Amino acid sequence: MKFLITGANGQLGTAFGQLLGERAEGFGHALDIGESGAVEAALLRVAPDVVLNAAAMTHVDTCEREPQRAHRENALAPEVLAAMCARHGARLLHVSTDYVFSGTGATPFAENATPAPRSVYGRTKLEGEARVQAALPEALIVRTSWVYGRGRNFVAAILAQAAAGNPIRVVDDQRGRPTRALALAEGILALVERAAHGVYHLANGGEEATWWDLARAALDEAGYEGTDVERISSDSLTVDAPRPAYSVLDCDKAAQEGIRLGPWREALREHLRSDDAPEGVLRRERSA
Ligand SMILES: NC(=O)c1ccc[n+]([C@@H]2O[C@H](COP(=O)([O-])OP(=O)(O)OC[C@H]3O[C@@H](n4cnc5c(N)ncnc54)[C@H](OP(=O)(O)O)[C@@H]3O)[C@@H](O)[C@H]2O)c1
Repeated sequence: MKFLITGANGQLGTAFGQLLGERAEGFGHALDIGESGAVEAALLRVAPDVVLNAAAMTHVDTCEREPQRAHRENALAPEVLAAMCARHGARLLHVSTDYVFSGTGATPFAENATPAPRSVYGRTKLEGEARVQAALPEALIVRTSWVYGRGRNFVAAILAQAAAGNPIRVVDDQRGRPTRALALAEGILALVERAAHGVYHLANGGEEATWWDLARAALDEAGYEGTDVERISSDSLTVDAPRPAYSVLDCDKAAQEGIRLGPWREALREHLRSDDAPEGVLRRERSA
């Protein structure tokens, strides 16, 4: 199988590239997935069996401040990509988010739970799902949560704060499941190999976590056991976009097909011992 990766310089796109090597051709933002002519030219040149779309506008507060841009990047552009895949006979994997759900409740959201996004990011990603499905009903759509990989992310930001000796305050009232980009990419490729289509949830497993739990675990794994993390509530933070209080994804549908991503703490440990770990902030040696 031959793959074309869009958004190839982001966290997930990078992970796809690491796993697929020469079986994939990756395109960064220079290939805008909303530009039909450029997308068509890339599809004609590469002739992929599968397009892996890792492109999105992912900064949720920027989406809230720039809703038109978010709508273009997260809703309209994926539709263009899906329509071009349909025209040229390529399969498509598109990625969506736990933020399509309301965040109320206390039991994991299954694929058929009713979405009720609370932010521009969540609303535009949900519309993107619908537009992709309308343009290419056989598309595979994978919703995931709390992704960290190579590059800028929450884990890297916390470790940078610790390395700088800054006080660290983290919300302890939003629950989800952190997900390593490389594990997510492996799970997605397993679904692609099975020719899965429709909506699936994929996230690392293990106990439900708050952002405080993730910060604490990252610090412990990176050698900052003595660094304190203050627990704060979401109300005490000024942010543009509301966050779901509870956004744990139920991943049973994929599990029934033999695809499980493994506990998040182990995935985090592996990440922080790999070359994907952030540079210059680890107090322990990398081992992989
Ligand atoms: N990060 C999370 O916590 C999280 C959680 C749930 C779901 N997801 C979903 O998972 C997927 C991958 O996320 P990620 O964390 O890997 O994101 P990321 O690191 O922000 O990477 C996204 C990439 O897409 C590029 N991009 C944006 N608009 C584009 C366009 N129109 N055409 C081509 N490339 C474009 C960005 O380039 P620039 O940087 O140049 O703009 C960036 O390199 C996304 O669909 C996201 O919505 C992420």
